[in-house]
Formats: sequence, C-alpha cells, structure tokens
Amino acid sequence: MSFRARHLLGIEHLAADEIVTLLDLADEYVAMNRGPDKHSNVLSGMTQINMFFEASTRTQASFELAGKRLGADVMNMSMASSSLKKGETLIDTALTLNAMRPDLLVVRHPNSGAVNLLAEKVNCAVLNAGDGRHEHPTQALLDALTIRRAKGRLHRLTVAICGDIAHSRVARSNLILLGKMENRVRLVGPPTLMPAGVADFGCEVFDDMRAGLEGADVVMMLRLQRERMDGAFIPSEREYYHRYGLDAEKLAHAAPDAIVMHPGPMNRGVEIDGTLADDINRSVIQEQVEMGVAVRMAAMELLAANLRRERAEAAHG
Ligand code: NCD
Repeated sequence: MSFRARHLLGIEHLAADEIVTLLDLADEYVAMNRGPDKHSNVLSGMTQINMFFEASTRTQASFELAGKRLGADVMNMSMASSSLKKGETLIDTALTLNAMRPDLLVVRHPNSGAVNLLAEKVNCAVLNAGDGRHEHPTQALLDALTIRRAKGRLHRLTVAICGDIAHSRVARSNLILLGKMENRVRLVGPPTLMPAGVADFGCEVFDDMRAGLEGADVVMMLRLQRERMDGAFIPSEREYYHRYGLDAEKLAHAAPDAIVMHPGPMNRGVEIDGTLADDINRSVIQEQVEMGVAVRMAAMELLAANLRRERAEAAHG
C-alpha cells in the first residue's frame, strides 16, 4: 500500500498511486457497509473532531458515520454561529482543540485556504471537508469511486462538469483528480460562471450544453451556488434551466451509457430535471452518497496509520 500523505487537504497533494490505494481500500469498505456487521476497530482509541464552520448535511453525517463505523470517539462541533469572526478565532479554536489531543480533525470552512492554515497549527491529521472555492477532496474521491465502479475504469473517460464552475470546490477537486488519472475533462456552463483563467486549465470549455455533452461518458452537474454569488450571474432560474439544466433531451447528446452525477444538495428544476435525477438507470446520485462513507473510512484509516507510525518513530527518538 502506498499512501504517504500526512493530511488530506486537497487532491492537489495526492499522487495517482495514492488515489488508487485509497479507492481500493474504499471498495473493501463498501462491501463491509453492505453487510450485517458494519463495525471495525481500526480507529479504536482515537478521537475524531468534526468542525463545520459552514452548513452541511451529507458531508458531516458521512464523516460522523465513517468514524463511528471504524470505532473512533467522534465529536461534532457546530461552528456556524461563530463563523463571523474568522482569522484569529480559527487559530484560537484550533489551539484549544489541539490541547484536547484529537487524532483526526475534519474541517469545513467558508474561506479558501483556512483548512491548510489550521493544519499548520495542530499535531493531528486534518481532513478538508470543503474550504471556500478551493478544494473538497473527499467529494472528488467519492466521485472517482462512483465512476470507477460504474464504468469499470478511471482513465480515458470524457467527463463533462456542468454549471456553476466558478464557485465550486467540487469542480476544482474533480478537475485535478480526473486530470491526474488521465481523463478528458470538459467544463460546460455560461461564461459568467467560469472561473478566471479557465483557458489555462488545460481542458475544453463550452457554453453550449449540447455541444459540451456530445459523447460524454460522465455528466457531472453542479449546484447553482447562490450563497457565493455577489451579483447577477444568471438572467433567471427559468432561463438557466432552459439553457443549462440537464434533462433527457440534453442528456441524449452524451454517450448512450453516460451516467449522471450531482454532489448534492440538488436544486431540482434549476440545474437538473427531478425525474432524471431519480432515474436509477442513468443517475448514480444515491451511489455517490453511499461511496462517500466508504471513501471517508478509507481516508481516515490511511491517515491514522501514518499518524501512528510518525508518533511511534518520534517516541523511539
Ligand atoms: C458540495 C459542497 O458543499 O461543496 N456539497 C457537498 O459536499 N455534498 C456542493 C454544494 O454545496 O453545492
């Protein structure tokens, strides 16, 4: 097994072989999670603290379940109410928590880079559960596992990532991961929702859905992230759905066996047609949620192993 990372801050820092190691282990956890005994003790004796400075349903639940299934003591801290004071507050909170000797710290924060900053101040393993528009590594890993299981491989696929790219850490982490695994990524959406410098990303950019979806193996839809928009990025939701919302007619341009993905939470009738999202022959949205737990279990096991090794080495001088 090869997994050298000390923290899971972003896909940016992972090598292709580390991604494969993590996904292989996650496959084992999928099997375990489907069985009658969902419990192991690889994290027993360890303390996991989940610090969410931003609202989250599935990611927080998924990390909590993953830690509990691996036998860790899990504590959830809801930080949403204190998120107004950033900077100093974050570091102070980190130092306070660090003094309680956690082993795994799972952090979501509205500011890009905040989780990296925090990782420098603590001596446990830090997992980024989403920081601003920067990265959301476990989401990209669970998407990768979903794709690998549905398509039988994770290379040489054409993946169309569609919608609000500019505000999306999910898009960013996926773009990096899919690139590292040698897939062809297309970004599809209105020019107002493309990040600055998109021309330098090394992927094809489309503002027409039908052209962008042509022959794609995977169609990944993104939520319109209104909370990150500080002006008018789209004319109206109705117009947006008309041009960029995924429905059966637009999907017909993709490969006949193309899968439909969405990280959730979904705006039905805005970026995706509700019936299509529920179509189990095309949509793998529920599988994504299932893979999320397994991927987080794998990530925490691998980081915990590295942490234990590092501590043992330190203890032996
Ligand atoms: C995503 C997030 O929070 O970045 N959701 C998630 O983690 N499942 C995407 C989103 O909020 O649209």
